[in-house]
Amino acid sequence: MEEREDIETLLREDEVIYPAKNLIENAHVKDYEQIYQRSLVDPEGFWAEAAAELEWFQPWEKVLHWDYPFAQWFVGAKCNIVHNALDRHIKTWRRNKLALIWEGEPGEVKVYSYLQLDQEVNKFASVLKGLGVKKGDRVTIYMPRIPEQVMAMLACAKLGAIHSVVYGGFSGEALSDRIVDAESRFVITADGGYRNGKVIELKNICDQAVSRIPFVKSVIVVRRVGHQVPMVAGRDQWYDELINSPLGSANVATEVMDAEDPLYILYTSGTTGKPKGVMHVHGGYMVGVHRSLKWVFDIKDEDTYFCTADPGWVTGHSYIVYGPLLCGTTSLMYEGGPSFPDPGRWWSLVEKHRVSLLYTTPTAIRGLMRSGDEWPGRYDLSSLRLLGTVGEPINPKAWRWYYKTIGKERCPIMDTWWQTETGMFMITPLPCLALKPGSATRPFPGIDVDVVDEKGQPVGANKGGQLVIKRPWPAMLKTIYKDPDRYREVYWDKIPGVYATGDSARKDEDGYFWIMGRMDDVIKVSGYRLGTAEIESALVSHPAVAEAAVIAKPHDIKGNVIIAFVTLKASSSPSDEMKQELIAHVGHVMGPIAKPAEIRFIDLLPKTRSGKIMRRVLKAREMGIPEGDISTLED
Ligand code: WT7
Repeated sequence: MEEREDIETLLREDEVIYPAKNLIENAHVKDYEQIYQRSLVDPEGFWAEAAAELEWFQPWEKVLHWDYPFAQWFVGAKCNIVHNALDRHIKTWRRNKLALIWEGEPGEVKVYSYLQLDQEVNKFASVLKGLGVKKGDRVTIYMPRIPEQVMAMLACAKLGAIHSVVYGGFSGEALSDRIVDAESRFVITADGGYRNGKVIELKNICDQAVSRIPFVKSVIVVRRVGHQVPMVAGRDQWYDELINSPLGSANVATEVMDAEDPLYILYTSGTTGKPKGVMHVHGGYMVGVHRSLKWVFDIKDEDTYFCTADPGWVTGHSYIVYGPLLCGTTSLMYEGGPSFPDPGRWWSLVEKHRVSLLYTTPTAIRGLMRSGDEWPGRYDLSSLRLLGTVGEPINPKAWRWYYKTIGKERCPIMDTWWQTETGMFMITPLPCLALKPGSATRPFPGIDVDVVDEKGQPVGANKGGQLVIKRPWPAMLKTIYKDPDRYREVYWDKIPGVYATGDSARKDEDGYFWIMGRMDDVIKVSGYRLGTAEIESALVSHPAVAEAAVIAKPHDIKGNVIIAFVTLKASSSPSDEMKQELIAHVGHVMGPIAKPAEIRFIDLLPKTRSGKIMRRVLKAREMGIPEGDISTLED
């Protein structure tokens, strides 16, 4: 499959799809080239103009202070992202517009106007404040995809507290590590959540995590599934009881924040075992997220926008929670996945809620493509006007299926390249741009990217190299929480003078970027970002395992799967049961998304003489391709 797709890419990469005239005429941006060129001549002017579309309590003295590699955006300004996401809108006609349409996996629907959402956030903020949450405090949110998850995030930001959302699919151990790193004294969870017809027992998992952490003082539990869960006296409280108590009724003012004050921490995998706490701030982040969503999805007042991600990932932070609200749009949030109870679920949502903008992942598209055209064929998808994809490279075959079968060749596809760290779209089409299937196309205005070699020299057209960002941008991560040295080392010391993305890419003769994939020890499985080191240390934490090395193997639907090579201690012997036990163990330590597809028992791992595992050799063997230079191999 991989090889066939490569050939297909080569043969078809000259395919260009030009935007329809009416699309350009009505778009926020009609001439990409002109705006892009101008934005590079005066990036600070460009971002100042973007910032002026939002409200500030106090204007900035300086757009950018760049003290390599630490940037300060909108220096001296006062603001709060929640003021722009909610407070600003309820002063206008928009107060009665729907902010959020939510559908649960079992099918119930809840809607909130901007005014109602603001009232709910106010109640949540009142509760948090009453429990002692203050500006700068970290609050960990471990929840299913329900409206209260969004409200909890906004309530934290309203108070100036820093939220740390942990995806509801992570294990208790992963949750515990993140609570400890963030030193969160407050945790918000739910009694459970629905996933493919089953209940995920979030509160039980949360209890396992929190029982080991003495400094957690308060656990707020939202009722979702109605399960009986143990409540620890003095620590755990039901959210519905709290809002109906005096704690829930205060009128909470939106906190005045410095533009550079932290908004959230979001943990993501890197090349070492420990997840990094990527930190974003109020000011620059809101400017970047607002402008990028407005322009790329060409947000209009009458749109209904559906992003299928989970708020637990950056896509959800930027483009389910903050971006759509900053743009004043109506967004649909759905609790479940694409294929339950059948592969028509998302298409039924598009029809029912008249979705006009749909944003999803290549893995989902490939999976739905495999389920057959009859599923989308059963529903009226004519409300769609624009499509998007994110998370991993989209192969041209899946691109064309999305374009033809879902968009009926009417809807351009925005293939958005970005990262947890970038906070916002970085390489992406705008609706006025000609598209090439499989290419994320051009940099967003104000963003300066290139493909270079290890020394930072541009490699030139159509040559592979490292994708780098050449100057600061407003939604960039501020730092890694509590670890500014690691921030410098990981992103800014690898190649002198630029931000190293960790991706390899190629730029063609038209300046179109083709993302090839990760170059480091990060693996993308179904678009989820996992570190090889984390999975390896999960394996080694099993008593039978002596050593482990994992690699990514290309997969038709998931993009990649994980193959783990394991040497067992002398006291244990290889068996199918042992394989299953190790796979389950990784699921238990990290969460189901990190489970290896295969365990291969091996007597000795290939290592260099200095003891480094040669994953390259393992990968070559797994793929049945030449092993390359093995002169450094020890044995
Ligand atoms: C990595 C970042 C940004 C939201 C979700 C992922 C890969 C992301 C694309 C795309 C090719 C992509 C890159 C990147 N990636 N979007 N459109 N085409 N690759 O965020 O978990 O921080 O992962 O995802 O490898 O570095 P993340």
